[in-house]
Amino acid sequence: MSWIEADSGAALTLSVNGMRHDLKLDARVTLLDALREHLQLTGTKKGCDHGQCGACTVLVNGRRINSCLSLAVMHQADEITTIEGLGTAENLHPLQAAFVAKDGFQCGYCTSGQICSAIGMLGEWREGWPSHLGDRADAAPAIDAAEIRERMSGNLCRCAAYPRIVEAIEHYATHEGADA
Ligand code: FES
Ligand code: FES
Repeated sequence: MSWIEADSGAALTLSVNGMRHDLKLDARVTLLDALREHLQLTGTKKGCDHGQCGACTVLVNGRRINSCLSLAVMHQADEITTIEGLGTAENLHPLQAAFVAKDGFQCGYCTSGQICSAIGMLGEWREGWPSHLGDRADAAPAIDAAEIRERMSGNLCRCAAYPRIVEAIEHYATHEGADA
């Protein structure tokens, strides 16, 4: 007999995009796999599965995390937001619209992670979280491209669409993202 029992899943409930889901999962299932493989929320992407690319970024209670590095069972008390919870094809989130307007992607594989990460990042900026750029008090209250590049450095883009990604985030932050 395998040491992994076929029916060894634990009952858990996840709240994702405002909906509660009852699941039975092995305790070792990551939040990323729970979203993609068990809830069919495939907008969240698996790039490296090792915390190195940011493709799997989602928001947990408004904070950005790499969902490949977190176990689903840890998030039963949390509100999880994925790209599917931000906007729809008919009603884009303003940041999604900015990515379209500024051509902030090529293949699009990193894009949902970029967008979720940017929303979390702008929340950190508004709350005064420091970055490795040091004292940028002169940049406040508007975030600038240098801060965006630094604070988004955990989100890789293999198409190297970085200039347009930064432009899209800066446009959103300065024009529409004041209360996002
Ligand atoms: S898939 Fe999670 S950081 Fe790359
Ligand atoms: S748009 Fe292709 S990886 Fe970023």
